[in-house]
Amino acid sequence: MTHQNDIPKTIPTFDAPPDGRLSADMVAAYRDAGVIVLKGFVGEEACTRLRQRAMEMVETFDPSEVRSVFSSAMQTQHNDSYFIDSGDKIRFFLEQDAFDESGELRQDKEHSLNKLGHAMHDCDAVFDRFSRTPELAAAVRALGVDDPAIVQSMYIFKPPNIGGEVVCHQDSTYIYTEPESCVGFWFALEDATLENGCMQFIPGAHKLPLKKRNYRKADGELVMEILDDTPWPEENKVAAEAEMGTLVIFDGRAPHLSAANRSSRSRHAYTLHVIDQKCHYPAENWLQRGDDLPLRGFD
Ligand code: FE2
Repeated sequence: MTHQNDIPKTIPTFDAPPDGRLSADMVAAYRDAGVIVLKGFVGEEACTRLRQRAMEMVETFDPSEVRSVFSSAMQTQHNDSYFIDSGDKIRFFLEQDAFDESGELRQDKEHSLNKLGHAMHDCDAVFDRFSRTPELAAAVRALGVDDPAIVQSMYIFKPPNIGGEVVCHQDSTYIYTEPESCVGFWFALEDATLENGCMQFIPGAHKLPLKKRNYRKADGELVMEILDDTPWPEENKVAAEAEMGTLVIFDGRAPHLSAANRSSRSRHAYTLHVIDQKCHYPAENWLQRGDDLPLRGFD
């Protein structure tokens, strides 16, 4: 039986090991809390280069190409093919509040985007380099992932004024293997604070069951199956404020959320999800890729 006193009340935070090799203490803290924060994992130059590359991509993006899809499917965005087929591509996703009543963007396109996804790391050389460093490979190895593959990446904008709330969830809901092996890697490319909607975790709550599972039905439509409808103990949530260059590593079961960004500052971040290829990856998972873009680890 778990006693209240056994539940960690803070997010374990460390200075990043220069070579990425997590110490035994760091790994133990990760196992205990389901999340660790590593300050200074990435240098300022690498963060700046990734932001620049994302901005170059945004330059090529024409919001009118996705406007019709988005406006006709506000409630069912996740069932449109632009989203569903993005597992092996780089695609652009707008914030819910991006357009005003007349169908015009409220802010410029950089400040209207929610994210880019979901194969930045395999489709672009700059993102590939950022995603496959020896330091990150060493961190993944230290966590005991035998045969890692980077299955997903996202560039998160969390723009000022309209960056939306992300409600409490577990990433293994979306990136499910048997047995579960999803690990999230979240890099702060700009300072993330409570004010601009930083990540928040419930330390220790990764030991709770998986509460939802997201998958494709036979007709390709995505469904969300509820496995356990008890509420999250959100009263125990802790903010993971993070300076630029910080890496947050979290278990696929670790419940997390972020508030809306109502500040005047953006909160750019980059996330990777790693699975162990020794585990089964179901064909009905929403996130799939074609044979011409095989899964890769850190080689
Ligand atoms: Fe998440």
